[in-house]
Amino acid sequence: MGRKLLIDKAGVPGIRGYEVYRREGGYASVEKAMKNMTPDQVTDEVKKSGLRGRGGAGFPTGMKWSFLAKPEGVPRYLVCNADESEPGTFKDRYLMEFIPHLLIEGLIVSSYALGSHSTYIYIRGEYAWIPDILEQAISEAKAAGWLGKDILGTGFDLEIYVQRGAGAYICGEETALLESLEGKRGNPRIKPPFPAIKGLWDSPTVVNNVETLAAVVPIINISGEEYAKIGVGKSTGTKLLSACGNINKPGVYEIDMTISVEEFIYSDEYCGGIANGKRLKACIPGGSSVPILPANLLLKTAKGETRMMNYESLSDGGFAKGSMMGSGGFIVLDEDQCVVRHTMTLARFYRHESCGQCSPCREGTGWMEKILKNIENGKGKKSDIDLLWDIQRKIEGNTICPLGDAAAWPVAAAIRHFRDEFEWHVDNPEECLRRNYGLANYADPLVAA
Ligand SMILES: Cc1cc2nc3c(=O)[nH]c(=O)nc-3n(C[C@H](O)[C@H](O)[C@H](O)COP(=O)(O)O)c2cc1C
Repeated sequence: MGRKLLIDKAGVPGIRGYEVYRREGGYASVEKAMKNMTPDQVTDEVKKSGLRGRGGAGFPTGMKWSFLAKPEGVPRYLVCNADESEPGTFKDRYLMEFIPHLLIEGLIVSSYALGSHSTYIYIRGEYAWIPDILEQAISEAKAAGWLGKDILGTGFDLEIYVQRGAGAYICGEETALLESLEGKRGNPRIKPPFPAIKGLWDSPTVVNNVETLAAVVPIINISGEEYAKIGVGKSTGTKLLSACGNINKPGVYEIDMTISVEEFIYSDEYCGGIANGKRLKACIPGGSSVPILPANLLLKTAKGETRMMNYESLSDGGFAKGSMMGSGGFIVLDEDQCVVRHTMTLARFYRHESCGQCSPCREGTGWMEKILKNIENGKGKKSDIDLLWDIQRKIEGNTICPLGDAAAWPVAAAIRHFRDEFEWHVDNPEECLRRNYGLANYADPLVAA
């Protein structure tokens, strides 16, 4: 069993409340950081830990913090990205729902390091019940003296605010999030300038994921050096994964990034194998935006090595033969799943969530959805598959924010690895409908919508 640093105590009765959390050692990192360390020393510790952002891109957190501009007399902000809207990803929800004080503790230490006196948690609107849990934890922490004015007599003041989003995936993109936090429509900003220079209210800002900020707590408690010893290579520490799809044990798991993909899927400690005794067909290992991998490339890399559950191994082979850790949403497909239908469902999501600012994304996501609907509905042509390929190529890299890439990559990977399945749909329109719905002329509401 690997080491657990984040959710190991999530099952302790009463841990959601302050008393139990504190009794279990909570807020020790705030005491340690504020009493014995300068803000720069906290940042150095995070650098030493090798922690990489858990929101998707995997950018080194300590490095991001060191980019924060510190002009005299200008406020700085820390913003916690709790938008978590990527299909298949629900790890941050688990952490906030079951062990909310861990996030609040991580926010206090991180705010101290960055010099943020007003820190925001931007949470997706659909997590309707979680802001109350967070606000309760914030008021408990404040009552206990961990928030407010002159914390621990250090002269450091901090308030944490919870802001609810209105339910838009694009508001998870950090600059769209900042626009939304400022009360505007959530359209991504052109970068540079990056938020570290010009972020919230034009002030220097760090935006980090929930899990990233929670990980600062064990880093300070055990030291950056100790944290870096857990895991492998540049995949240090532990990682939360939300596992779903055709597995026996869907849920949120914490791994130390030294286990293989095979172990993660088949071991009883994690996913417990494929449901109903079916065979593994494919998997999207890091949330809906990352490339799908067929079973053979999922369990072994193209070099024939065992594929491991860490950043480097999951991306081994590039996009042609690998994928990404992404946001940690591990979606498993069994042998009965239709990749075309699955890709169509994702395309529908991205079309709906495109903010419409950039034409390749605004127009392209709609075209992709329409073509995929046609293929799935038995109305596709062979040339549609090439057209689909062409459209995704024209979206990728041609938009202000990476939502365009996120929409293009699943389509590209599905065609790359499952072209025969697309061709089968074109060649067998009636069979395709019969297989999916039992009737050749069944009007599937999803396809017809
Ligand atoms: C369309 C889109 C949606 C995103 N959604 C999220 C999200 O829900 N949560 C998150 O932490 N990062 C999300 N990101 C990544 C953020 O822009 C940003 O990189 C991240 O919050 C940085 O935190 P980290 O360095 O701790 O990973 C999204 C990016 C894009 C392009």
